[in-house]
Amino acid sequence: METLNWNTVSKPIIGLSPMADMTDSAFCCVVKSMASPFVFREMISSEAVVRENKKTIRMATIHSDERPLIQQLFGSNPDVMAEAARIIETKDHPDGFDINMGCPVYKIVHGFNGAALMREPERAATIVQKMKAAVSVPISVKIRLGWSDPTDCLSFSKILEQAGADLITVHGRTKMQGYTGKADWNMIQKVKQHVSIPVLANGDISSASLVQEALTITGCDGVLIGRGALGNPWIFKQIEDLLTGKPLTTLSMEERIRVIRLHLNLHCAQYGEHGIKTFRKHLTWYFKGLPGATYFRQKLHTVDSMENFEKILEEMKTSFTCSQEKKT
Ligand SMILES: Cc1cc2nc3c(=O)[nH]c(=O)nc-3n(C[C@H](O)[C@H](O)[C@H](O)COP(=O)(O)O)c2cc1C
Repeated sequence: METLNWNTVSKPIIGLSPMADMTDSAFCCVVKSMASPFVFREMISSEAVVRENKKTIRMATIHSDERPLIQQLFGSNPDVMAEAARIIETKDHPDGFDINMGCPVYKIVHGFNGAALMREPERAATIVQKMKAAVSVPISVKIRLGWSDPTDCLSFSKILEQAGADLITVHGRTKMQGYTGKADWNMIQKVKQHVSIPVLANGDISSASLVQEALTITGCDGVLIGRGALGNPWIFKQIEDLLTGKPLTTLSMEERIRVIRLHLNLHCAQYGEHGIKTFRKHLTWYFKGLPGATYFRQKLHTVDSMENFEKILEEMKTSFTCSQEKKT
């Protein structure tokens, strides 16, 4: 296995942004069946890894189809973060680690995790240094513009670079903004100009056509796509097509159903029978904004067996194919 080097990988770097409860092994496999972005797995707790929490350890398992894959860790204790990275590297060999320094959720920040680390630059730098010393793969960091001051990212990114970070992703909002307002791509550009390591732009890059615009404005080495990929793994194929000058293909209902089925099967293989219920969060995204799909979405949301799920998908295929035929 070739060692990942963020400086020499081909640019622009396109990646799936880490999303808790969403970018698990099943979804990463679906994304990788469409195109070949880097996938950033959902965050896992360094404390839980070191405590050998079974569920957390299982979350780090990698399917070979997902590579290259970056495992994100969160935590605030530099020694625990380093030890967790060492344990996961020995067991699962991810191609890189990412450190969560951007999560705004109270449950995370109240223990100096996630975005709270942006207020603790020394601690943040020590985490990077200790993780670098503990593993052989690159260490990247995902940050926000700041806690409340959107210019904090400038000094903070420099500190991370000096501590040895190999790549930084910037979500163009402050912690206080949460998900409100618009991601500030101009401030991300300032970070890019401020450091010499590769920088990825993140925030509101919700369609393939916005990728080029974000790259032009930020001058970044690539982008991470978050919500734009939920229920829409095809976005990565569209990005590849756009970047290589190929025309965009329209998405047929058959293809949509094929992928929902593939995703459900992978999801249930990962979580067992219960997966049929936990898959509902993905269904909401797959049907978002799809005209005429309310009836099927409601039906699929109450389904509790694979057999019934299949029946509804078949009914859906017939219904949408017939309505398309009527139109032509
Ligand atoms: C459901 C959900 C879960 C998320 N979980 C994480 C996470 O585990 N780690 C992280 O760094 N960011 C997490 N994020 C933030 C995203 O990675 C991304 O930075 C943010 O959504 C902005 O990008 P977007 O506009 O492309 O969605 C999460 C976002 C969402 C919507």
